[in-house]
Amino acid sequence: MNILILGSGGREHALAWAVMQNPKCDKLIVAPGNAGIALIADCAGFDINHGGQVVNFVEENSIDLVIVGPEAPLAAGITDRLRDAGVSVFGPSQAAAALEASKAFTKEICEAVGAPTAAYGHFTDASSAKRYLADQPMPIVIKADGLAAGKGVVIAQTLSEAEASIDDMFGGMFGDAGAEVVIEEFMEGEEASFFVLCDGETVLPMGTAQDHKRVGEGDTGPNTGGMGAYSPAPVLTDAIAQRALDEIIRPTVAEMARRGTPYQGVLYAGLMIKDGAPRLVEYNVRFGDPECQVLMMRLGAQVMDLLHAAADGRLSEARVNWADDHAMTVVLAAKGYPGEYAKGSVIRGFDKVPADSHNMLFHAGTAEVDGQVVAVGGRVLNATARGATLAEAQARAYAMVDAVDWPEGFCRRDIGWRALG
Ligand code: AMP
Ligand code: GLY
Repeated sequence: MNILILGSGGREHALAWAVMQNPKCDKLIVAPGNAGIALIADCAGFDINHGGQVVNFVEENSIDLVIVGPEAPLAAGITDRLRDAGVSVFGPSQAAAALEASKAFTKEICEAVGAPTAAYGHFTDASSAKRYLADQPMPIVIKADGLAAGKGVVIAQTLSEAEASIDDMFGGMFGDAGAEVVIEEFMEGEEASFFVLCDGETVLPMGTAQDHKRVGEGDTGPNTGGMGAYSPAPVLTDAIAQRALDEIIRPTVAEMARRGTPYQGVLYAGLMIKDGAPRLVEYNVRFGDPECQVLMMRLGAQVMDLLHAAADGRLSEARVNWADDHAMTVVLAAKGYPGEYAKGSVIRGFDKVPADSHNMLFHAGTAEVDGQVVAVGGRVLNATARGATLAEAQARAYAMVDAVDWPEGFCRRDIGWRALG
């Protein structure tokens, strides 16, 4: 099979690495890719958010399966264009991608099926939002409705902070994403991510992970796209996972089908767990980044068959084969991230980083310039390792980090702390 993966991050490098290992993969192309992906696949440069360009490329290169990594092409309706052209594609339709593209849509679905989640209000103007706020306990969560690159969520400790966020959002700080605002009850507990594959009807649990969203050790400082992750997440016990499936995920998928917008792709449920019960924080309609890296590390070659089965509506025949192992990924980011950071610094030491079936250094924001690898993004490398225990995976991941020679980069040194104690 000829496979095209859309995206350029560590998530897509990990997907490419897993797909490549499947003997059914004859040709793999990633668009646009990065310096690490270029070592294992062909990279192509076209606009992955432009339906016409994607369809042309797929037809010219006899692609059999397209795997969409990030949310932007999904929200832009790329999968609809590809399906109309008769191409197998892994990823939800534009209508179903609303589960990530609109927080108000997800809240309304949860309400319709009775899925446990935070109480909320949905507003299209600042004064009614502020009237609602006046009666709410603090802290409270203010969210821009639309896609805001993970930055559209503010946890306000005081009423004045909450009001200021409302003014920012309606004032255009997040562009169109903030034209509508959701205000949510603050949920306490421990967060974990649950990934399931869907083919419109069948739901197949794929794995659990825990991300580390804050930039600083001990989960302090500003939010990022994620500074590290591990899988499985012990906080998401089998019993809690079953409740999440029964109370949240399966009812959502059934409701999407009932509304004529069946969900196909990976559904990533961000859960808040407290007293043995899960509540939904948010859905994403794609793999998490960096959570994907640890899932791929554990699943390997079977991923391609699973994604293909989801794309073609054959998930009821599929199963996930789990090894009893653990994986961890540590994100190396450019100093200054998630604020301002410099681009163009050279990264060395790749030849000293162990690379075998237990270790993979996935690339995110890298490019090759004159034979050298340079940093071109905020999150740049993902040191990813597998082990019989989480402690072993952690030791291997940090050994990789220590082999990389990149003075302009940094990482958190405590990835896995909640599980390792
Ligand atoms: P989201 O983009 O919706 O995932 O929000 C980003 C982060 O904000 C989440 O991962 C949580 O850590 C936090 N968050 C969002 N909504 C809530 C909530 N209702 N209660 C507590 N924390 C939340
Ligand atoms: N790591 C969080 C996300 O991908 O949304």
